[in-house]
Amino acid sequence: MNLRKDGILSELKNPKRFNITVLEKIDSTNSYLKELAKQGESEGRVIIANSQTGGRGRYDRRFYSPENTGIYMSILLKPTLLAEKSVLITAAAAVAVCDAVEKICGKSASIKWVNDIFINGKKVCGILTEGSLNTETGGFNWAVLGLGINVYTPKNGFSPEIENIAGAVTERLEENLRNRLCAKILENFFNYYEKLEQKSFLESYRKKSCVIGKKIDVIKNEHVLGATALDIDDECRLAVKYENGKTEYLSSGEISIKIK
Ligand code: BTN
Repeated sequence: MNLRKDGILSELKNPKRFNITVLEKIDSTNSYLKELAKQGESEGRVIIANSQTGGRGRYDRRFYSPENTGIYMSILLKPTLLAEKSVLITAAAAVAVCDAVEKICGKSASIKWVNDIFINGKKVCGILTEGSLNTETGGFNWAVLGLGINVYTPKNGFSPEIENIAGAVTERLEENLRNRLCAKILENFFNYYEKLEQKSFLESYRKKSCVIGKKIDVIKNEHVLGATALDIDDECRLAVKYENGKTEYLSSGEISIKIK
C-alpha cells in the first residue's frame, strides 16, 4: 500500500498530536514545510511524500527519493532549547528510527554519528535538521526535522553514484508497512522530544553507534585527519583521538567522518 494519511493515522495511538499531509510528489518535504513554518504553521505539522524531485541532504547533497519505496518525511518543531543543542533533535530522531525499524521490520540498525542510519553496512536513512534562529534568545523560531528512509530497494536500483553506499531496510512486502513505520517513528520521536533535555535517548544512541572504537577519517574544511572514535559525550559530541595523540570533542556542524 502506498503512503496514505488514513493508513498512518490508524496506526497512531494519539493521532491528534499531529497534522499530517501526504503528498504524491514534491521537490523537498523540508523546503515545503519551511515555507509553511515561515507563514506561522504550528508545531506537529508533518509533510510526507511518496517521492521527491529535489530531496536534500547535509552539505547540499542530493537525497535520492524515488517513488513508492521510501519515506520522505518532515516534521515542524518549535523547540525551546538553545540552537547550539540542535544535535539533540537529530540524535533523538536517529534512535526513534532505529527503534521503529526494529519493532516493525525486525531489523537491527546502527547509527553513524551524527545523522546516518545503517543496516548491514549500507545507509538506509539520513536525517537533516534545519531551523530558523532567534538571534535575541539564541533559540529557535522553528526547526524542520527531515527524515529520508529507503524502506525498499527502488525498482531500478539505487542511482549509480550511491549504489555502493545505499541500502534498503527490508524486502518484506507487507500491506501498510511503510505507513506503520511512519507512525512508529512519529510516536517514538515525540516521546523523546517532549522531554528532549532529559536526553533519555542518549544511552541508546551510544549503544547503537557503529563509530565508537573505530578508526575514522575526520573531514574538516576539506582536511582529512586520521583518528580513533572514543565515545559520544552528553552533548552528543564525538570524542576522538588523533594519530598525533591529541584528543578533541567534535560538534556535528561542519565536520563529517568516514569509517575506515
Ligand atoms: C542526509 O543523508 O544527509 C540527510 C538526508 C535527509 C533527507 C530527507 S528526505 C525528507 C526531507 N526532505 C529533504 O529534502 N531532505 C529530508
